[in-house]
Amino acid sequence: MKHYGIQILWLVAAQIIVSSFAVQAERYIPSPPVYPAPMGGMIDGEWNDAYTKARAFVANLTLLEKVNITSGTGWQMGPCVGNTGSIPRLGFPSLCLQDSPTGIRYTDLNTVFPAGLATGATFNKDLMYLRAKAMAQENKAKGINVLLGPCMGPIGRAPEGGRNWEAFGSDPYLQGVAAYQSVIGIQEEGVIATSKHFIANEQEHFRQHQEWVAQGFTNLSEPYSSNVDERALREIYAWPFADAIRAGTASVMCSYNQVNQSQACQNSYLMNGILKDELGFQGFVMSDWNGQRSGVASVLAGLDMSMPGDGLGWADGIPYLGSNLTIAVLNGSVPIWRLDDMATRVMAAYFKVGQDPKTYPVPNFSSFTLATHGPIYPGTTESPSGKVNYHVNARGDLSREIVRAVAQESIVLVKNTKNALPLSGITKLGLFGSAAGPSPLGPNGCPERGCANGTIGIGWGSGTSNFPYIMSAVEAMGIEAINRGMTFEYVLDDYDLTTAETLAATIDTAIVFISADSGEGFMVVEGNHGDRNDLYAFHSGDDLVAAVAAQNENTIVVIESVGAIDMESWIENGNVTAVLYAITGGQDVGFAINDVLFGNISPSGKLPFTIAKHRKDYPVDVMYKVEQPVPQLNFTEEIFIDYRHFDKYKIKPRYEFGYGLSYTTFNISTISVTTATGAATDEAPALPPPYSAVVITNETLPHAKSAVYPADIPRYPKYVYPYITKSTAHSIKYDRSSYPYPKGYSEEQPTLPSIVGGGSGGNPALWEVLAVVEVTVANTGSVLGAEVVQLYIAYPEVKGVEFPVKTLRGFEKVSVAPGQSATVSLNLLRRDLSYYDVARRNWLLPRGRYTVLIGNSSRNITEAGSFSF
Ligand SMILES: *[C@@H]1O[C@H](CO)[C@@H](O)[C@H](O)[C@H]1NC(C)=O
Ligand SMILES: *[C@@H]1O[C@H](CO)[C@@H](O)[C@H](O)[C@H]1NC(C)=O
Ligand SMILES: *[C@@H]1O[C@H](CO)[C@@H](O)[C@H](O)[C@H]1NC(C)=O
Ligand SMILES: *[C@@H]1O[C@H](CO)[C@@H](O)[C@H](O)[C@H]1NC(C)=O
Ligand SMILES: *[C@@H]1O[C@H](CO)[C@@H](O)[C@H](O)[C@H]1NC(C)=O
Ligand SMILES: *[C@@H]1O[C@H](CO)[C@@H](O)[C@H](O)[C@H]1NC(C)=O
Ligand SMILES: *[C@@H]1O[C@H](CO)[C@@H](O)[C@H](O)[C@H]1NC(C)=O
Ligand SMILES: *[C@@H]1O[C@H](CO)[C@@H](O)[C@H](O)[C@H]1NC(C)=O
Ligand SMILES: *[C@@H]1O[C@H](CO)[C@@H](O)[C@H](O)[C@H]1NC(C)=O
Ligand SMILES: *[C@@H]1O[C@H](CO)[C@@H](O)[C@H](O)[C@H]1NC(C)=O
Ligand SMILES: *[C@@H]1O[C@H](CO)[C@@H](O)[C@H](O)[C@H]1NC(C)=O
Repeated sequence: MKHYGIQILWLVAAQIIVSSFAVQAERYIPSPPVYPAPMGGMIDGEWNDAYTKARAFVANLTLLEKVNITSGTGWQMGPCVGNTGSIPRLGFPSLCLQDSPTGIRYTDLNTVFPAGLATGATFNKDLMYLRAKAMAQENKAKGINVLLGPCMGPIGRAPEGGRNWEAFGSDPYLQGVAAYQSVIGIQEEGVIATSKHFIANEQEHFRQHQEWVAQGFTNLSEPYSSNVDERALREIYAWPFADAIRAGTASVMCSYNQVNQSQACQNSYLMNGILKDELGFQGFVMSDWNGQRSGVASVLAGLDMSMPGDGLGWADGIPYLGSNLTIAVLNGSVPIWRLDDMATRVMAAYFKVGQDPKTYPVPNFSSFTLATHGPIYPGTTESPSGKVNYHVNARGDLSREIVRAVAQESIVLVKNTKNALPLSGITKLGLFGSAAGPSPLGPNGCPERGCANGTIGIGWGSGTSNFPYIMSAVEAMGIEAINRGMTFEYVLDDYDLTTAETLAATIDTAIVFISADSGEGFMVVEGNHGDRNDLYAFHSGDDLVAAVAAQNENTIVVIESVGAIDMESWIENGNVTAVLYAITGGQDVGFAINDVLFGNISPSGKLPFTIAKHRKDYPVDVMYKVEQPVPQLNFTEEIFIDYRHFDKYKIKPRYEFGYGLSYTTFNISTISVTTATGAATDEAPALPPPYSAVVITNETLPHAKSAVYPADIPRYPKYVYPYITKSTAHSIKYDRSSYPYPKGYSEEQPTLPSIVGGGSGGNPALWEVLAVVEVTVANTGSVLGAEVVQLYIAYPEVKGVEFPVKTLRGFEKVSVAPGQSATVSLNLLRRDLSYYDVARRNWLLPRGRYTVLIGNSSRNITEAGSFSF
């Protein structure tokens, strides 16, 4: 999602037509059509109550009221970044949809949590869950109905990807576990979770049309198309969405990009086919902000809600839904059952999480000003004014504890030699680099956190929120160092190497802070258009490390980064004794760095991505140039992203996925592998149950006159209403034969789900436990610490199918006291042991011998076992 209008040249650009597209389309395999949109409520189970209530509610609504539920009121037409129409007759409020996955955007008295990538680095399921719960409590306190998170895409296919830090790391299994825990945590608090971005939204460059034309890429005619093969689509990109749906995610956001030449928000194969049929999704699909590219076609392809309600431009007031949906139903192009299904899915989501207009708080803030009073609808010139900010303190005890715990456990120690860490026995300490200190502009000095000044707590863009404070290392460490009797000096200028060298030569220990930042594609920071231009530290960080290390034999490097960086120029320098990674740790990042450096806690984070020795070692790079009007991102690496690629081509990384050191030592031993008795282990899973019958309400349509603007409402310019004008009402003809329905269009609801579908997240048989692995973890060192037991599978051979050398399929973090040990038990599901067979369009369990690999990183495998089917 983005926010403000980079002044839009889209009209002009739209004329740079699409002529070459028809030619290209033949060369690529387009997404096949899948119709109709499966109706919600056909899967018997945990959504039943919600659907009973939703159907009764929607049965009582007028056409205009149904349209209101599905349509945003337009950009800046209400307190939140997205606001739906309301139903005053029933006292049903406008729903408030608000960013972000790291904390509440655009308000005050909120917490900025460690971002998704930091959360992934904890490999701690409890923290994933508690972080989401704390975040949801804050959202509810502010009156937010729909939290726009968690983010589980981008998955991190390219290390430079601008928004990788919003999601949980470069492995679908890790993303899936984190997504599952997050959805449970959010929705238990009564807030609707939004799983995003669906799907294959792996780079910022060219994700949208007008945004990138405005940045000078005038040859662009449409957003890039991610061309993803069927297996990678399911095993990598849709995998975490399956977990989110299994957890009951009540909404999903479709993304800006195209997939196989069709807009993600208009792609029937993705929304009707994969999401609603194969993955059994029962909630509603909303567009990313202005990511919708058509009205009727999107609705038929499975889109349920338009956000923020305008069409192509910010606050342009020209909606694809709203009044246009009213017209499309009245003229017969959109069948009334589809509108009923859209409204019912939204209401089912609302009831699923237990919201109730009588008890749920209403928004008490404005996204568009921090002042107490201001315009209520800033998007229109005729807005009334009033009290818009009540300054409710949303931060509770859980937030306070969790924000620090996640930051601490997300820190990854990658190098520690000569007992450099934890710091002890030193008297003269010095810190170097701007990332050690506060930004001269303050915590929120740059809009949308769009600069890399001072401590990096999160990246930039819509996935941000206002910092209540941000704790820098200089602030956090100063007090502790002084209390420990040390001298404490620093040089925060990244470029004043002379002063840095002078200090470095006179102290025991030098800690150099370097950083790298990225964010959403609507902003350019230090020349980076969202995606990073390269993998080097910002502000010539390598030079600063070299300068300090040349003068000081105990140089420690702290990296505050949104992802992997190239550290080759100094990592083998013997004077660089220790290196730690602080990955977008949120407002408490400085506390967490302090706690690890001084040994108040033992580090336990693990890299959620691979750090390569050379950029070219990665399987893919961002596409930075427009070589065709519709850039084609061919996902030719297929399922071989991140460590799977390094394993396949036997490339030695600098630090591998899953790697991270501790201040203590662990021994993982006594593996036991048992296959579950009584579980079906046939190659194909049992068929899913059939759909339950749907009631298609063929209501008589009201007369078009009933949809005309009532005399007594204020008609704010550009506000998106469901109403039509008198003259439009006169001209509407009900005619089901003239609309050019897409090829393959049908209105016959399926009675059987896809063979991979039939349950929330897919075929219920995929969640059967087929094997259990147990290991013992002993703390053989001298301090309390936590270890992440990682389970990788090596699959049996299948003719014509290539498997990764190993695939992450389980992990658990355990905290163990010195001299103690703990037992870890990991379940392997049918899903974990299957691959997606493209020819048979099913998940199959290969025949033969599976090897279970256990270790504390993807390359430190110390125990192995096996079983066969
Ligand atoms: C239908 O609307 C009426 C008010 O017009 C209300 O009294 C009734 O409870 C509603 N029924 C349902 C199922 O929401
Ligand atoms: C639709 O929503 C708008 C905005 O909340 C509201 O003013 C209007 O009354 C609603 N219309 C109907 C028919 O409920
Ligand atoms: C646009 O395409 C034309 C023709 O291929 C090329 O000459 C020009 O350099 C391109 N412009 C940009 C900004 O990429
Ligand atoms: C998308 O395109 C890729 C590459 O051309 C192809 O392998 C795949 O089958 C296509 N996917 C769909 C859903 O058509
Ligand atoms: C419907 O959509 C079209 C195309 O975006 C737009 O030109 C028109 O103004 C819209 N109609 C209404 C009534 O909003
Ligand atoms: C019905 O109305 C919609 C919305 O304005 C429009 O997109 C569609 O083309 C219309 N159908 C026909 C057959 O004109
Ligand atoms: C702050 O950040 C901006 C953009 O990232 C950069 O141009 C500027 O030099 C920075 N200022 C300081 C004082 O670091
Ligand atoms: C390590 O530091 C010492 C000074 O303490 C210096 O003489 C030496 O050149 C440094 N080594 C490197 C590789 O920078
Ligand atoms: C993507 O794949 C198509 C079809 O195989 C090919 O023609 C095209 O050159 C590829 N594009 C890029 C940028 O690799
Ligand atoms: C690899 O794992 C073993 C056993 O857990 C452990 O003793 C060893 O320190 C680990 N190596 C690294 C580099 O973490
Ligand atoms: C509703 O049913 C009538 C009679 O069967 C049929 O003529 C009409 O097309 C149907 N309307 C819709 C919107 O499906």
